[in-house]
Amino acid sequence: MIVARTVEEIRAAVQQLRTNRPNSTVGFVPTMGYLHEGHASLMRKSAEQNEISVLSIFVNPIQFGPNEDLERYPRNESGDLQLAGQCGIDIVFLPSVEVMYPQATKTKIRVAEVTEGLCGASRPGHFDGVTTVVAKLFNMVKPDRAYFGLKDAQQVAVIQQMVNDLNMDVQIIPCPIVRETDGLALSSRNVYLSDEERRQALVLSESLQMAHSLIREQSTITAAELNDVIVKHIQAMPIADIDYVEIVQYPSMERFAASVKLGEQKSDILIALAVRFGNTRLIDNLYLPYQL
Ligand code: PAJ
Repeated sequence: MIVARTVEEIRAAVQQLRTNRPNSTVGFVPTMGYLHEGHASLMRKSAEQNEISVLSIFVNPIQFGPNEDLERYPRNESGDLQLAGQCGIDIVFLPSVEVMYPQATKTKIRVAEVTEGLCGASRPGHFDGVTTVVAKLFNMVKPDRAYFGLKDAQQVAVIQQMVNDLNMDVQIIPCPIVRETDGLALSSRNVYLSDEERRQALVLSESLQMAHSLIREQSTITAAELNDVIVKHIQAMPIADIDYVEIVQYPSMERFAASVKLGEQKSDILIALAVRFGNTRLIDNLYLPYQL
C-alpha cells in the first residue's frame, strides 16, 4: 500500500498505478478516518469494482461548526492503515490541514436547496465544507467512481447534485448503512457514548424499524402522523434530545406535506433523524426507494 501525504505524491501515485495497470479504473473512498466496518464496506466495494482503490483520511476543518467536535474528533492512523490494507486499498492519501488548505480557501462550492433542510439547517455551512473538500479531493485523485454511505443520505444527495451540475467525470456509488447487530448504525462518533447513552441510542434504529412497519401495514398513514409516532417514541428515552425528525422526498430532500399518505407516494422516501445523547449528536435514516 502506498501512503501519500502531499498533493504531488497522491497525483504521482495514482498516475503510476494507472500506467502499471492499463485500462484500469480508480475507485475512491473519502473519509475522516477512525475507520469502522461502515467505511470497510465502502473500501471493499471499491476494491471489488476497480483495479485501483484510493482511500483518503482527512478531518476537514471547514465542515465543522465553531461549537462542534473538530478538536476531539477521534483519530487512529495505524489502525486505519491496517484496515485499509485488509480491504484492498492500494493508495492511502493522508494530507495535513496545511496540504489541503495552504491558505484559507477563497473558493467554496455551495449546492442550493438540497442543503437547506435537515443537517444543513442544524449545521450552517457544513455542506459547503463537504462539497468543497470533496471537489478538491476529486481533482487530486481523479477517480472514475467514488463511494459514499447512505448513513449520510443528505451528503450523498448533495454530492450527486454537485457532480451533475458541474459535469464532474465521476460516478457516485451510494452504499447501504452498516449496523451493529443490535441495530445501532456504525459511526466514528459512537466512541463518545457512555454505556447508558449507547443503550438509549438504540431508539434511533428502533423507531425507524417501527416507521417502516407502519408504512407497510397502514398505507393511509400520513407524514404528520408518522412523524408524531417517531417523535413520541424517541422522547420516551429520557436523555434523547431531538435535533430533527424529517420525512422527505429523496434526493430533493423536500419535506412531504403533513397530510400526504406515505404508503401511496410514488417517490423515494427518506426518514431522517438527528438526536443528541449527552454531548454526542447521532444521525440515522431509513431510505425507502419507490418500487414500481
Ligand atoms: P466520514 O464520516 O468518515 O464517512 C466517510 C464515509 O463513510 C461516508 O460516505 C459515510 O456515509 C460512510 N459511512 C459512515 N458510517 C457508515 C455506516 N455505518 N454505513 C455505511 N457507510 C458509512 O462523511 C465524511 O466522513 C465526510 O463528510 C467526507 C465525505 C469524507 C468529507 O470530509
